[in-house]
Amino acid sequence: MSYNDNFIRACRQLPVERLPVWYMRQAGRTDPEYRKIKEKYSLLEICQQPELAAEVTLMPVRKLGVDAAILYSDIMNPVASIGVNFDIVPNVGPVIENPIRSSEAIDRLKPIDVEKDLSHVLETIRILDRELKVPLITFAGAPFTIASYLIEGRPSKSYIRTKELMYSEPEVWQRLMDKLGDMVIEYLKAHIANGAKAVQLFDSWVGSLSPADFRMYVWPTIRRIFQELSSYEQPKIYFPGVASGELLSVLTELQADVIGLDWRVPIREGRRRLENRFAVQGNLDPYVLTAPMPVIKEQAAAIIDQGIEKPGYIFNLGHGLFPEASLDKIKELTAFVHEYSAGKLKSNTKEVTS
Ligand code: CP3
Repeated sequence: MSYNDNFIRACRQLPVERLPVWYMRQAGRTDPEYRKIKEKYSLLEICQQPELAAEVTLMPVRKLGVDAAILYSDIMNPVASIGVNFDIVPNVGPVIENPIRSSEAIDRLKPIDVEKDLSHVLETIRILDRELKVPLITFAGAPFTIASYLIEGRPSKSYIRTKELMYSEPEVWQRLMDKLGDMVIEYLKAHIANGAKAVQLFDSWVGSLSPADFRMYVWPTIRRIFQELSSYEQPKIYFPGVASGELLSVLTELQADVIGLDWRVPIREGRRRLENRFAVQGNLDPYVLTAPMPVIKEQAAAIIDQGIEKPGYIFNLGHGLFPEASLDKIKELTAFVHEYSAGKLKSNTKEVTS
């Protein structure tokens, strides 16, 4: 099988014959074979074993026929290297041993040492680089989203302590953003050096901020991260997470290739808010996957119709897959996206040339 670079082409806003598709959180939970592995090992234990982590990354690529792989890891993995002890608790998420709530605790955070503390991640990337016939996306959590876990100590709905620190001690907050920004830059540079073909920054929870607060407290660090990575040719993706539609117009100067959209903003409107400067990725509501197949296809088709209006569109969900999603439906959806978009793109080309 030859190498499938449709995903990279779409990131660069080049024409494709059929749309690329992958799913955030495609590796893992929806697959019974993965759940079997999880009976034996925790997420962190799987990540410590490069052969196994690579295998878990490959499973959805084989089973679903997607056009990109995403490294099996978690956004929390690099924080161990800066001195934060945490666990990923099943059905809860990341839980921090000593939540970071003071200026002193922020000062104690060390610089990341990727080679020493995260060599298993780099080894997994190298194995995948040898085995994959589709591009490997690796990722990091963005500073606000990581900070929300470090400060709250566990998943939160309100981000009350995070916002309290941000508003009441803006200089301390900025020091935390700077340190997490440095961590992300070093970590993603090491991924690229070891074979990542694209990188995505997950800012899952930053949509909880108003556009003005995003601009003031978070944007300078996001801009710096992408600036630091801008000399690499590998496409860079920023996913501003759920409910991020109102933040899009702040992003127009970002040195990224692709912006991920959540399902509240139609693709056409997202592109407009981004002044057509980026490829876009998204944005089926993951919970539409609870619907019967004809409903799923109808919704996907409506998104694709807007997506193919310009080059630079990648089909995905508007947020990560949920554990109960049906593997069979996701597989059928993937085939549908390929088939439907190939037909549409072919007839568009005919219209232009005739
Ligand atoms: O996308 C993939 O398939 C690659 C692997 C991946 C994981 N986490 C593995 C994981 C990725 C890209 C992530 C990113 C991640 N982790 C995000 C950003 C994406 C998003 O959903 O917004 C966030 C916020 C986290 C933090 C996190 N990790 C939470 C909230 C949870 C628990 C809740 C949940 O969704 O399960 C985790 C645990 C986690 N990370 C699991 C996996 C496969 C579940 C562990 C298990 O299988 O038991």
